Amino acid sequence: MKENGNPYKPYIATVEDTWYETYGDRSIKTLKVVFDDEKIRESWEHRPGQCAMIGLLGVGESMISISCSPTEGKFLRFSVMRMGAVTSALHELEPGDKMTVRGPYGNSFPVDEWKGKKIITIGGGIGQAPLRPIIEYVRANADNYQDLTVIYGARTSGDLCFKGEFEEMSADKIAECHLSVDIEEEGWPHFVGFVPSLLMEVNPSPENTIAITCGPPVMINFVLQNLKKLNFEDDQIYTTLENRMKCGFGKCGRCNVGNLYVCKDGPVFNYATLKAIPEAFA
Ligand SMILES: Cc1cc2nc3c(=O)[nH]c(=O)nc-3n(C[C@H](O)[C@H](O)[C@H](O)COP(=O)(O)OP(=O)(O)OC[C@H]3O[C@@H](n4cnc5c(N)ncnc54)[C@H](O)[C@@H]3O)c2cc1C
Ligand code: FES
Repeated sequence: MKENGNPYKPYIATVEDTWYETYGDRSIKTLKVVFDDEKIRESWEHRPGQCAMIGLLGVGESMISISCSPTEGKFLRFSVMRMGAVTSALHELEPGDKMTVRGPYGNSFPVDEWKGKKIITIGGGIGQAPLRPIIEYVRANADNYQDLTVIYGARTSGDLCFKGEFEEMSADKIAECHLSVDIEEEGWPHFVGFVPSLLMEVNPSPENTIAITCGPPVMINFVLQNLKKLNFEDDQIYTTLENRMKCGFGKCGRCNVGNLYVCKDGPVFNYATLKAIPEAFA
C-alpha cells in the first residue's frame, strides 16, 4: 500500500455486509468492507496476520486484525468484539454505512518460509480472527503446504466464531478441524475442556510442522507449555500480541514490549524471540 502523505489519514470504506458470529454482552460482529476509492481498492495489499485501525468519524478508532486472506478478493473483513465505545459503535454499522480504515499495520505470518510444512492453528475465542487469514491462505495455496489442522475452542458453542467454515472444511477434507467448549453442553459432539487440553488430545507431531496460537493470554501460556511437552522447538511456534495501540506505526510508544513495538515489530512473533523478553508474558 502506498503512503497517502499523512500516515494518520484514513481511507473511507463502505460496509458491504455484516453478520453476527456470536451473541451476548461481548458479541462478535463481522464487517465486510470495500474502499470507496477504486485506486485504493486495487492497490491495497495486506498479508495474513496484519491489522488495521478502523473507526468512525467523531467516535474513534480501534486496532483490529484483518480477518480475511488477500486470496479471498478485493475486500476486507473485520471481526469485532463489543468492548467499549468504538467497538460498540462499529457494531451499529449496517450495509451501506461508511467507516474509516488505515493500515495495513504490523508484520505478518511468514507464509512463504512455511512452504512445504504442515500447519496447525490453535485458537481461542476472538483469537481465531487473526488465524482465519492463514487458514484461508493455506486453503488457497494448498499445493504449497502439507496438512492443515485447526484446533479451536471457546467457552460455549455459541461463543465460537466462523462455525460454518469448520464444518465445510472438515466435510471437504480441506483441514482436520478439532473444536472444543469449556463447559459440557447437551448435544455437543466434540471435545469438552480447555484448548490446551484439546491440543494434548490431538497430539500433533512436531515433525516438519509450524504451530500458530492466538487467544487469551492464559490460553496462550498453557498452549506454549504443551507445545514444548509435545517437543515443538521454539522456532516452530508463532503467536501474536495485542498490546494497546494508538498510532499503529511506531511513533507514539504506546505498545512496546521490551525494546520492540508490537505495532511495527509484531503483532506476529516467533516464540524464540518472545522468550527473550520477560515483559512479553507479564
Ligand atoms: C494487534 C491487535 C489486534 C486486535 N484484533 C482484534 C480483533 O480482531 N477483534 C477484536 O474484537 N479486537 C481486537 N483487538 C482489540 C481491540 O483493539 C480492542 O478491543 C478495542 O480497541 C477496544 O476499543 P473500545 O473503544 O471499544 O473499548 P475501550 O473503551 O478502549 O476498552 C474497553 C475494554 O476493552 C479493554 N481493551 C481495550 N483494548 C484492548 C486490547 N488491545 N487488549 C485487551 N483488552 C483491551 C479495556 O481494558 C477495557 O476493559 C486487537 C488489538 C490489537 C492491538
Ligand atoms: S501503537 Fe504507537 S508505537 Fe505502537
